[in-house]
Amino acid sequence: MIKGNFPLSRFTGLRTPFYYYDLDLLDRTLDAVKAAIAPNPEYRVHYAVKANFNPVILSRIAARGLGADCVSGGEVQAALDAGFKASDIVFAGVGKSDAEIRLGLDAGIGRFNVESEAELRVISEIAAACGKVAPVSLRVNPDIGAHTHAGITTGLAENKFGINYEQLPAVLGTALSLPAIAYKGLHFHIGSQILDMADFVALCNRVNALTESLREKGLPVGDLNMGGGLGINYRHPNHLPIADFDAWFSTFRRFLRTQPGQTVHFEPGRSIVAPCGSLISRVLYVKEGTVKRFAIIDGSMTELIRPAMYHAYHRVENLSSDGPDTVYDVVGPVCESSDVFAREETLSECRRGDFVAIRSAGAYGESMASRYNCHPLPEAFFG
Ligand code: LLP
Repeated sequence: MIKGNFPLSRFTGLRTPFYYYDLDLLDRTLDAVKAAIAPNPEYRVHYAVKANFNPVILSRIAARGLGADCVSGGEVQAALDAGFKASDIVFAGVGKSDAEIRLGLDAGIGRFNVESEAELRVISEIAAACGKVAPVSLRVNPDIGAHTHAGITTGLAENKFGINYEQLPAVLGTALSLPAIAYKGLHFHIGSQILDMADFVALCNRVNALTESLREKGLPVGDLNMGGGLGINYRHPNHLPIADFDAWFSTFRRFLRTQPGQTVHFEPGRSIVAPCGSLISRVLYVKEGTVKRFAIIDGSMTELIRPAMYHAYHRVENLSSDGPDTVYDVVGPVCESSDVFAREETLSECRRGDFVAIRSAGAYGESMASRYNCHPLPEAFFG
């Protein structure tokens, strides 16, 4: 069984569970992003901070010149603190509070991605009151079902995100009429962990049709933000550690119709940080049940909630043992039956104290950790 390369000697003595990030892999991933967009100087990438806001990770990404995509005032502040240029920060979210809007205006962020007419009017009022003009893109709900699981689609009419396709011309008209709003463009996002490029082709087709109909009505389109969503290979973290950015960007290159001078923005989160992070835990007990064999580890859904919340698969590797392949349900100590990392997973035979790595946990892992059961938040280490 091929396993990841981990500095086990460094792990001894550290309190488990903890996150371990391979910064070299993060750097190589960022190189791959930059190489993939190199042919298109009009392409701009804003890292989705929600995937991982660890300050070390954020400042590493900021230093490579990417922008940031944020969904709260806290994320805007974290991005500013990490060194992202304010003008490269975009701020989405259906429920921005007045204080968050003020923070964005004061910092001079590049874009408010506005999700409703009501929000547009509030941003206008707040901007006018402080003598500012808010740069705004309108987030459109493209009503496209991505081939991912229901909990993480965002671009369907039934989802809460974005402005209805049919209502867009009217809201755009309002945006153009408000003096404290500078209309800048359109924003889309169809969902997350998408591996079928046909979903992004469908998005391009939808955007092409929409921009054409706006132009026919004499309305401006402005810049395009296509959101994030590129998936990674959770099954084979060692064979395919870097997401297929070439396939992703070339899909837009081929299918999205753009005008001269129009910039095209992207907001990848998972594809940038998921592969470089692992949750490192230790085996506490091996329990032979009547129908199952359990490896009970000290990590739990409080550090990584994805398996419990979305039935997401993360590969689990026993780093300490080369024992015979053995099948386990890998479970945590939390008092919930959903606190299961993997069912029927094959690991090298487990003994008490072995280190196990739960792979591809760099995105939506540490950032979604909770203190349920009075667990402390996990620490992070870097290699
Ligand atoms: N842009 C917007 C407007 C978003 O809502 C999201 C993610 C992204 C960009 C980044 O998407 P990504 O490239 O990471 O797919 N907690 C879930 C994922 C939720 C994603 C929410 N929005 C999970 O663990 O799978």
